[in-house]
Amino acid sequence: MTNDSITNNNTMKKSSVEEIRSKFDQLADQYTNIEKGQDTALDSPLCMELISKAASIYNPNAHAIMDLGCGGGNYIVKLTALLPNVDVTLVDLSENMLKTASKRVNYNISGKVSTIQSDFRSANFGIEKFDIITAATTLHHLRSKDEWILVFDKIYKALKPGGSFWITDVILHANPRLDELMHQGWFNTLESNVGIEKLNWVKEQYHKEYTPVTLNFQLDLMKEVGFKETIILHKHFCFATFGGIKDKN
Ligand SMILES: C[S@@+](CC[C@H](N)C(=O)[O-])C[C@H]1O[C@@H](n2cnc3c(N)ncnc32)[C@H](O)[C@@H]1O
Repeated sequence: MTNDSITNNNTMKKSSVEEIRSKFDQLADQYTNIEKGQDTALDSPLCMELISKAASIYNPNAHAIMDLGCGGGNYIVKLTALLPNVDVTLVDLSENMLKTASKRVNYNISGKVSTIQSDFRSANFGIEKFDIITAATTLHHLRSKDEWILVFDKIYKALKPGGSFWITDVILHANPRLDELMHQGWFNTLESNVGIEKLNWVKEQYHKEYTPVTLNFQLDLMKEVGFKETIILHKHFCFATFGGIKDKN
């Protein structure tokens, strides 16, 4: 595994899980715009489309999908529009997010919706239960290297053979100057898209809550826990969208 994964950013004191849960509980209606997606993430509509299409190319006969940190459900709504004959499991800290996402995804699918209100570090995902697992702008809440390993390993084990795992999130770059350039690119884009007030809010949230890692760390970790193939779908400044495929046998 590459050694460039964890930066100084991780040594700063971050919000507690309870603080994060409580914040997102108030924000459910900010994560339900299916056209724009998350307006503070880069290329959100494109990333929703890429993950939905890639997952349905790899697992066209999926029966079970799990969305980690589902928020208001944009990613799972987009994906189940293409794969409606599935059971869906939603995982999130926030009860309001789970209620909002459940209601929206229920319209799309012929199967059932189950919810797990839990930290994805401690939740039990089961073994070989899912054809597809998604995690959109949420894994940056993992802190130590051990937590990343724990969660990727659980995800790999929870996938059926041939299943796929898709992430879109903020990433770090190992070189600090390049990392700064990439983050500045995001912040400049945000300032013109959503304005200075929202940009300042995002920066505050970033310092309080985010502990992202590099794309290479995540791709290497996917291989280390067992994924056969990794795929990069998109990268723009400090955002990447990518996946891992579990071997069929
Ligand atoms: C930025 S929102 C993204 C929501 C959605 N995935 C999307 O892309 O629209 C992050 C979500 O992750 C959830 N979350 C944060 N940390 C979590 C954790 N440790 N376990 C489970 N959910 C978590 C939050 O409650 C929130 O709903």
